[in-house]
Amino acid sequence: MIQKYNLSMRMMHWLSGVGFLFAIFLGIILTHTSWIDESNEVQYILLHKSFGLLVFFLATLRIIIRFCSEIPNSVADNKIEKFIEKFTHYFLYFSIIALPISGYLMSSFGGRTSGFFGLFDIPLFISKNDELSGSFYDIHKILAYITLCFVGVHILGFIKHLIIDKNNILKRIV
Ligand code: HEM
Ligand code: HEM
Repeated sequence: MIQKYNLSMRMMHWLSGVGFLFAIFLGIILTHTSWIDESNEVQYILLHKSFGLLVFFLATLRIIIRFCSEIPNSVADNKIEKFIEKFTHYFLYFSIIALPISGYLMSSFGGRTSGFFGLFDIPLFISKNDELSGSFYDIHKILAYITLCFVGVHILGFIKHLIIDKNNILKRIV
């Protein structure tokens, strides 16, 4: 049995993970308009959408790669830990797909296009509907903060293995 994730899994973990952290950081900045110069707000939204879409493309590729990869055995000590580990991983996979989709739907129902770093725009496939745009805003916001909590659990799990179990599982993914 292998003890380490393969190179493509390791690369996709850090690319999509860092992309996710950038997207959520920019999302949080957008809600604190006093932190930024108002004249730059549109630029921040464009950057937020671009990083969000990047996460979506990387996450799709990452999930395909995962299906084709051999995954190392879990390092969980007991059934409860194994459940938390599995649930957290599956939730994070779900979220890096669902968050960008909810963001895109929020913008599209609001009648706004979404671009990718100025390279191309994703066309509007749906007609304007402010009510649905509002609902997707709520979904996007709630899901983003729940996901942030799960990232916290994920990192705490790593710290637990490192400090209590004296097992540096980071070596498996770097
Ligand atoms: C500094 C932050 C992070 C650290 C230190 C970290 C660490 C790790 C480690 C050590 C593993 C391997 C677990 C094992 O060996 O069983 C792992 C796997 C994983 N990480 Fe992270 N991670 C971080 C950020 C993220 C972020 C931001 C996401 C997604 C939003 C993420 C999603 C995942 C997923 C889904 C897996 C499971 C891989 C699989 O088995 O398919 N990680 N992470
Ligand atoms: C992993 C990807 C993403 C994450 C983690 C994320 C996270 C967030 C967060 C935390 C907020 C602030 C919510 C609040 O407290 O009000 C936000 C707002 C927003 N997001 Fe995202 N988002 C992602 C992807 C996207 C995508 C792909 C789009 C559109 C294509 C998008 C469009 C927006 C818009 C329009 C807002 C509202 C900005 C405003 O307040 O004017 N997001 N996002």
